[in-house]
Amino acid sequence: MIKSAVVPVAGLGTRLLPATKSQPKEMLPVARKPIVQYVAEELVANGIEQILFVTGRNKSSIENHFDYDPELFQNLSRTNKRDLLEEVDFQALEAKFFYTRQAMQRGLGDAMLCGENFAGEEPFVVALGDSIIGLNAQSKAVSRMGELFESRHASCVLAVEEVPLNQVSQYGIVQPADGEGDVFRVANLVEKPKPEKAPSRLAIAGRYIFSPLVFDMLHRVEPDNRGEVQLTDAIQLLCEEGRRVFALKLQPNERRYDIGNFPSYFETFVEFALADRDYGADFRESLKRMLEKK
Ligand code: G1P
Repeated sequence: MIKSAVVPVAGLGTRLLPATKSQPKEMLPVARKPIVQYVAEELVANGIEQILFVTGRNKSSIENHFDYDPELFQNLSRTNKRDLLEEVDFQALEAKFFYTRQAMQRGLGDAMLCGENFAGEEPFVVALGDSIIGLNAQSKAVSRMGELFESRHASCVLAVEEVPLNQVSQYGIVQPADGEGDVFRVANLVEKPKPEKAPSRLAIAGRYIFSPLVFDMLHRVEPDNRGEVQLTDAIQLLCEEGRRVFALKLQPNERRYDIGNFPSYFETFVEFALADRDYGADFRESLKRMLEKK
């Protein structure tokens, strides 16, 4: 069983300005909860016992969110709000949270290097802090990826999702070695290719499992023309060295909700609000009325 996860949350969120001027994009709410809470809950539900958040300047609200707040607790207990109290009692989660800062914006690969000591000699999960997998984060993809990692003696397992051709340039795209089943070996990868250069339409979907070998590759990768160390380049090195890199396709009911840009953030918010246990049904009616007016 894989017990550790690294969650990079250091990105500047420039695609979501002005919402992200002074707050991290990972703290934007999707219906009732901030995005990063869904990510933490998904990891815990998949057996993760320790999570390292790689943060940056302006990200302290993430740490505050998961911290114990005695005043709030007293207030909620005094007013008998048990349900709410349980929802914010992150100390009760079966995982320990750790935080470290990425000093400079040097890309996802560099953020991961901040987790090198934390991961130690064990395999670990990487979960991007701006992606929720499945409605209300109800996905067991990470557990399935862990089983695959162990049974195939892999060096890396990636979650992938099919995207429309006009979106391949926003993602890391994989080239399957031999056919595209639900699980397949990866021959190669390209970060954000032009549609005509894309080897498939299967995009890396924000969840990864690595053996610590990936750190050797990350140390070897040259920064790109923007000075960023790309994680995809390190995975490509693993492929080039003949290491076993596998992809697992997300199921239709566990699509990836990408919060990194406004169109998909809007869509995600509405979909989660429609599924709300108390207000979803009424919200559906108001939404219908709004749409009829147009
Ligand atoms: C990153 C990765 C990319 C991946 C994407 C979504 O891109 O570099 O390979 O497909 O996340 O998981 P970013 O969204 O940081 O530009």
